[in-house]
Amino acid sequence: MNPLDYDYLRKLLREQSGLVLAPDKQYLAESRLLPLVRKYAMAGLGDLIARVKAAPHSAIAIAVVEAMTTNETFFFRDKMPFDHFKDFVLPRLLMARAKERKLRIWCNACSTGQEPYSLAMILDEKRLDDWKIDIVATDISNDVLARAKAGLYSQFEVQRGLPIQLLVKYFTQVREQWQIAPHLRTLVSFKNFNLLNDFAPLGQFDVVFCRNVLIYFDQDNKSAVLNRLARALAPDGYLVLGAAETVVGLTDVFKPMADHRGLYVAHAGKAGKPALAAVRSPPLAPAMTDTVRVAAAKS
Ligand SMILES: C[S@@+](CC[C@H](N)C(=O)[O-])C[C@H]1O[C@@H](n2cnc3c(N)ncnc32)[C@H](O)[C@@H]1O
Repeated sequence: MNPLDYDYLRKLLREQSGLVLAPDKQYLAESRLLPLVRKYAMAGLGDLIARVKAAPHSAIAIAVVEAMTTNETFFFRDKMPFDHFKDFVLPRLLMARAKERKLRIWCNACSTGQEPYSLAMILDEKRLDDWKIDIVATDISNDVLARAKAGLYSQFEVQRGLPIQLLVKYFTQVREQWQIAPHLRTLVSFKNFNLLNDFAPLGQFDVVFCRNVLIYFDQDNKSAVLNRLARALAPDGYLVLGAAETVVGLTDVFKPMADHRGLYVAHAGKAGKPALAAVRSPPLAPAMTDTVRVAAAKS
């Protein structure tokens, strides 16, 4: 790929997905985009980028962005966040929501679905039959969402992180693959959603898993996403980030929980005050501002 095309690709990726491609990752771009060159029967990468330049919001441009995403994931990835969810977050939220008996969870870079299905298994084990549980799982890539919706995993994928007793309990063998139980599939609703977009249409959540996606964003987009997440989360809700991610130095709307690595809660009194000046978030909605202030005053 020539340097000008590579620069264009880096700009396109940042603008359309937030993903930052380092200046020396040309080989990565080439290996991920060559399958598209073949799929669309083009002469080469130059052709592909020319088509994207001519129509930066076309299906081909979207396919280019999707091809550049990293979709690595596995069941109960890093284990600890799921233990925190099961043993700390869930008991507190079940108590706090005992009246309405409703829980909304958002996995916002869900890849092929192992993360939301891990949560679905934990919730199923708790037997919350009279609760309305809503797990919304989103990703920018339609390819991974199609796989997630099918809930079909290879032998290799079910051997990564999934305890054998959960495999036996929740999966059925379909030829060489394993399919997750229909009642867990209906617990999760998969949607295409770009983290650069406004979160308001998704409503409010009690827990947000935003793991292993912000590592690919630059500081401004990390801050902007975190500030918008604060508004998408109930005042007593929990944010879960990946092992290599933090809010420190990016925003003060969240604070880390001392004894629960990877878990973040609203920073009382700081809601809506981004740490960095260059944040593209709209101001807090008045109703939410009041709610957050009440929570802050109580603590
Ligand atoms: C490395 S996977 C993380 C999967 C899962 N959260 C985990 O931790 O195992 C990152 C996912 O983020 C998605 N992604 C990248 N940019 C995104 C964006 N702007 N909006 C939504 N999802 C995005 C990718 O498509 C990919 O599936």
